[in-house]
Amino acid sequence: MNRKPIIAGNWKMNLSISDGVALASTIRDRCSRYRDVDVVLSPQAMMIWPIVKRLEGSPIQVAAQNCHWAEKGAFTGELAPAQIKDAGCAYTIIGHSERRQLFGETDAAVGKKARTLHDQGVIPIICIGETLEQREAAQTINVVSQQLVTAISDLNDDEVATSVIAYEPVWAIGTGRTATPAQAQEVHRNIREIIVRHHGDAIAQRVRIQYGGSVKPNNVRDLMSEHDIDGALVGGASLTADSFVQIVAHREDID
Ligand code: PGA
Repeated sequence: MNRKPIIAGNWKMNLSISDGVALASTIRDRCSRYRDVDVVLSPQAMMIWPIVKRLEGSPIQVAAQNCHWAEKGAFTGELAPAQIKDAGCAYTIIGHSERRQLFGETDAAVGKKARTLHDQGVIPIICIGETLEQREAAQTINVVSQQLVTAISDLNDDEVATSVIAYEPVWAIGTGRTATPAQAQEVHRNIREIIVRHHGDAIAQRVRIQYGGSVKPNNVRDLMSEHDIDGALVGGASLTADSFVQIVAHREDID
């Protein structure tokens, strides 16, 4: 199965609006020729709209970093999937480890968010991953399995196939400590097998599974050469055009 690679930049709570729009412009100009990879930018919510406008006509898509699961209502400070869709986002990151650890996001909440996003035609990028303690206790596969199964429990086959899964070992996020390609591949293979068990092989082969956690220009090629690694969710290295473009262009000579 030939899955189209997907490289997403998670800017987290960084950059001013003008710096974010300028970065998006530079990435658009330098990435638009790489048509064999899907490129996604995930800016902080207040710059989504100007960045969507700036990217109009380019193949680069925009993702929100979080959402609520309700359609609308009295949820001060939250973003509804319908509003995210209205602002022009094609994707939304859910279940990021920072949201799980710092804001109490549960597996059940991630599942509800995935459901509402699909209702709106927005693709969830579902983040899963184990902590260092869990890895050292040989709990990695149990943990990611529980997170994944709950996240996709309310989705039909086609919704599962179009969802993006991001495997992000918590110990590798922002630490400079990447999982080796073999370590990552082992978890990615297990993730796909879990999807096979629940939705069959044909669906599982369509699901794109990103790796995230200290992805840099110098390690992306080896990670992406693994069979079940279909993309990257990039934090720190997505904040400068040079490093992000090198990651997008990892299969080509750098321009
Ligand atoms: P990092 O972040 O690339 O800075 O490790 C990845 C992420 O949190 O998605």
